[in-house]
Amino acid sequence: MIREPAQSAPQPAAPLPRHVAIIMDGNGRWARNRNLPRPMGHREGVKAVRRAVTACRERGIAVLTLFAFSSENWRRPKAEVKLLLELFVHTIQKEINDLDSNAVCVRFIGDRSAFEPKMRRLMENAEQQTAGNRGLTLVIAVNYGGRWDIAQAAQQLAARAVAGDIDVRDIDSDKLGQALSLADLPEPDLFIRTGGEQRISNYLLWQLAYTELYFTDLLWPDFDDAAFAEALRSFAGRQRRFGQTGDQVEQSKRA
Ligand code: FPP
Repeated sequence: MIREPAQSAPQPAAPLPRHVAIIMDGNGRWARNRNLPRPMGHREGVKAVRRAVTACRERGIAVLTLFAFSSENWRRPKAEVKLLLELFVHTIQKEINDLDSNAVCVRFIGDRSAFEPKMRRLMENAEQQTAGNRGLTLVIAVNYGGRWDIAQAAQQLAARAVAGDIDVRDIDSDKLGQALSLADLPEPDLFIRTGGEQRISNYLLWQLAYTELYFTDLLWPDFDDAAFAEALRSFAGRQRRFGQTGDQVEQSKRA
């Protein structure tokens, strides 16, 4: 008896990052290319934020970290800084209930001391409202810098050492890592930067030590689901060695 050709055998699922960290670059150029004012680019960028959150939620990615405002962004023209912060506040206010009902847990990282109490309250309320959600952790970096993060971790450890709570000789990379902003979350597996530049720009400096880097020329407002899928395909094709040889990695997969 001739057997029917086997239906395509189930393929092992492509490895998916647990944590994706994104630098959303190119809003200004997106607007300029259309003879629009820069703010229009940032507004369009918010739509791309929504798409990225939905894409992560649908695919079961555990953590998405977005660089919304860096500690260096204060150097932009005053009007643009104002607009960016207003857009940030407006977006949180508008989206928080939707995020909550979609099981998204919202967290913020960065130095909040620079913000007005009203904005700090908004951030705290958003965190409290969504703290119990387990669908996707959405981390928003505002007034964040990787060097600031390492410095604040060092400060925490120094204060504990002065208080006699820990011995200076016990301070190692594990302890420092535990004092960083994202200590309780898996480190980013995949870093994406849109907009054509190939640099880290003081993002999660410590946490990106073993992250796969992906750069695309697409401007952030153009970053759609197909572009996200392409980044995930690139990630799935990488061999993550964490200091081992390629042969060791293959062997441990077979074991
Ligand atoms: C970089 O583009 C983009 C930013 C500095 C801000 C991105 C912020 C948002 C999309 C709003 C996010 C809001 C929430 C709540 C997450 P650019 O201005 O540097 O573009 P350019 O390089 O083309 O000038």
